[in-house]
Formats: sequence, structure tokens, C-alpha cells
Amino acid sequence: MVDRSPFVVVANRLPVDEVTTDTPGGRVTGSGDSARRWRRSPGGLVTALHPVLVERHGTWIGWSGSPGPAPEPFELDGINLRPVPLSEEDLERYYEGQSNATIWPLYHDNVEPPVFRRRWREAYRVVNRRYAEAAAEVAAEGATVWVQDYQLQLVPAMLRELRPDLKIGFFLHIPFPPIELFMQLPQRAEVLRGLLGADLVGFQQRLAAQNFIRLARHLLGTPYHGNVIEYEGRQVKADAFPISIDVGEMQRLADNPLVRERAVQIRAELGDPKTVILGVDRLDYTKGIEHRLKAYRELLAAGRLSVPESVMVQVATPSRERVEHYQALRIKVEREVGRINGDFGRVGVPAVHYLHQSYSRSELAALYCAADVMMVTPLRDGMNLVAKEYVAARLEHGGALVLSEFAGAAGEMRQAFLCNPHDLDAVKDALMRAVTVDEHEARRRMSVMQRHLRRHDVARWASDFLTELGAIP
Ligand code: ADP
Ligand code: G6P
Repeated sequence: MVDRSPFVVVANRLPVDEVTTDTPGGRVTGSGDSARRWRRSPGGLVTALHPVLVERHGTWIGWSGSPGPAPEPFELDGINLRPVPLSEEDLERYYEGQSNATIWPLYHDNVEPPVFRRRWREAYRVVNRRYAEAAAEVAAEGATVWVQDYQLQLVPAMLRELRPDLKIGFFLHIPFPPIELFMQLPQRAEVLRGLLGADLVGFQQRLAAQNFIRLARHLLGTPYHGNVIEYEGRQVKADAFPISIDVGEMQRLADNPLVRERAVQIRAELGDPKTVILGVDRLDYTKGIEHRLKAYRELLAAGRLSVPESVMVQVATPSRERVEHYQALRIKVEREVGRINGDFGRVGVPAVHYLHQSYSRSELAALYCAADVMMVTPLRDGMNLVAKEYVAARLEHGGALVLSEFAGAAGEMRQAFLCNPHDLDAVKDALMRAVTVDEHEARRRMSVMQRHLRRHDVARWASDFLTELGAIP
């Protein structure tokens, strides 16, 4: 039994995944037969929240990454971890179904059509209740509970019912859609009421907070003044808190002599090209990987770029591999990579290095250090931390960021080479401007973005949110 905690984070996943194969690099807890191996979970949510929990010695409630019974609560790196069990059926219906085949595409502008299934909705409800009950059990009297992301939108209301003494915050890491799209959701009123169980609902962008406030009035007739909604005799605040990264951690990594050496080695292994173009994404259809590859192919075909002077490295982290849209995307991306290498590669010199793998933080930092141009071109993205990580890792090296206007990060990273990822010619032009930018201008742009990041790192994001939550009576 974990001690009751004054600060609790509830997220679909724990910040670590249980390693069930012989994957190297995991951390071990326990000993002998009871020893379990853990490694960092994928995605921006964990990247952002891990340092916050370490600082506050709180409890993190989430799934261990393996189906079946949950491991006992344990402590790792100063955080109390309270695993929640998910069965195979929960995974299929709540996680792969309602969360990632219904809500994820719907909230990302329907870039793929959402799938609606009644049994998924019920599973979402049941699993959300399980997380709410775990939080109610772990939270101390009057504790602050911070619920995370689209998988757990019903938790705030469920938790309030169980524990009215708690202060409840909710943060959505992905975009919140305009009313017309949200209204397609069969569970729409239930989801909205779920979120309104919180005292403070945080979004990545102001527009998303406004969408939410307008939606509440449209669907439930709730009055509001400014960004405060009046709901069932309580006040619910909705506001924007653009998330960020642990800038110091990334800078320290990029400054580490071993990482720098590795960056030089990576460039040498790539054949010491003039320009290394990098993409780092989960293999997700919102990330615009296919569009980016097509733009690169057309530039090669037109002779505006050539191999071996330029080379592209595309890291595509495996993600949600049993969901149909993800399987279809993998086929399309790998076909495009094959086509580019078939047309423009030579023996021992591919035009695109495609890596469907996960990496350590230091290997990622080395890749950022090795890349002259970073392409972050999602069709829609709540924030996109990869863009911020690249900027933080560049230190005094310059480098250029090609960034989609539809990434939340575009609101802050104004010195990037911005483009509309749906317009292939615009992507090609932005990439060419990034490839040919002179060194002085590249450094100038990078240093403006770095200055912004240093003042807006993840600690500030968390403290802005928690201060605003704490100030709510
Ligand atoms: P999302 O949250 O949609 O995955 P973000 O760009 O906001 O997108 O966050 C992705 C996070 O996952 C970043 O911190 C990034 O460093 C990390 N990441 C992405 N690809 C890999 C990989 N191949 N190996 C390890 N970490 C990765
Ligand atoms: C995004 C979502 C997170 C999620 C992460 C990884 O960052 O906002 O909630 O954890 O992607 O996705 P996964 O489905 O593997 O947890």
C-alpha cells in the first residue's frame, strides 16, 4: 500500500513501461524472481511530466504497459508509482478503440476518419472509473490531483463524486476540436461533463480553451464570464498552458562530450554529407511523415537536392501498432522510403535512413546535434516537443527548424521556417530555405528561439498550471 499522497498525477501510462522481452537498457526493481525491468515510456506527456513528479515526490497512477494484473505499487527515481491493470479486452476497446481510433483522430481535425463503436464507449467508462477509484484511494485529504489527457476525460467528474475534498486539475495534451467536430462524438455530453468535474481545465492553446468554453455553452447552456464557466453551482476555469521540455536536461546532454562524439560519428556513418535532414516522430498519421518524404523525393527528382550531399534520417518510433490506421500508415511510409531509395540511393548510400526504433535520450540528443535541418511537419499536433528538443540541443551550433503551422509549437517558435504541410510546394520551399540559410541568420533564429525556451521550460509550465489551480477557492 502506497502512503496517501498530497500530489497525484493520473495518466493512462506510467512514465515507465515494463520490459517483457530481453530489451537492453531497462532499470531493475526488486530482486531474484520478483525483479522487474522498466524503461521510459514513449511520447511527449511523459517527457513533460516526469521532471515535475521527481521534484514534488508525488504519486503517479497509470498503466504499466503490459496487459493483465497490475504489479504492486513501487518507487523508482523518487516517484511513487501506482500501476492500474488493463486486460487484453480493455486494451482493445478502451485504449486502441475509444482512445486511439475514436478520440485521437477526431481531436486531430479528422485527419483520418474516426471509428465509432458502442462497446468501446462502455469500456472507456469502465476503465476511467478504475483510474478515478485508484486516485481516490491514493490521494490524501485535500490533495491536488492532476489528470492527464484524452484517455481519461471522464475521470475528473468521477473523482469529484468520490472525493469532493480534492482539488482537481485536468490537462489535455492534444488539440481540442472546434464545436462542429466535437459534436460528432456519440459520447459528447458525457465527455464534456467529465471534464467539467475539474476545477481547472488546461489546454495547449488559447483557441482550444475558447472551443471548450463555447462548446459547454452550446451543449449544456452553461453561462460563462471570461474563461470561467458556471457549472452546477461551481466555477470551472479553462485556460491555455503551452507545454514545454526540460530545457536544462537537453542542453546538458547536448553539451556532454560523449554525445558530441556520437554526433560526429553519426555524421561520419552517414558519409559526412553537407546536409543532414532529420525527422523524429512516433509513427503516427498526424505527424505528416508521408508528406515530408514526398516533398524530399520531389526535391531530389528536380535536382534541387542531391545524394550524397544531402541525406535524410527519419526516426519513426513504433506506436499503437494494432490500430488499423497505424498499420496502413506504416505500409505507406515504408513504400515511400523504398521508392526514394530505389530511385535516388546508391550502393552503400541510401537517400533516406529509416529507423523504426526507440532510442535513449542521449542517442536522440546526438541525432539532434548531428542534424543541420530538423523537419517537424505534423498535419495537426497539440504541441510537438521534438521541435523544442531540437532547438534546445543546438546550443551554439545554429541549424534550422522546418515547422508546420499546425503544430502547437508554431505559436512560440516563430523563427522556424514555417509551412503548411498540406501544401507540398510550401514544404519544399521551407525545406530549401532551411537548407540554404546562411550561418549567421541560422544562429540568429536559433538563439531567439532558445531564449524563449529557457524562459518557458516544463517547470514553468507545471508551476503556472498548479499555481492557477491552487488559487481557485
Ligand atoms: P507525441 O507526444 O505525439 O509523441 P511529441 O513530439 O510532443 O509527440 O513528444 C514525443 C516525445 O517522445 C519526445 O520527447 C521525443 O524525444 C520522444 N521520442 C520520439 N521518438 C523517439 C524515439 N524513437 N526514441 C525515444 N524517444 C522518442
Ligand atoms: C501523445 C499523447 C500521450 C501518449 C503518447 C504516447 O503524447 O498525448 O497521452 O501517452 O502520445 O502514446 P501511447 O499511446 O503510446 O501512450
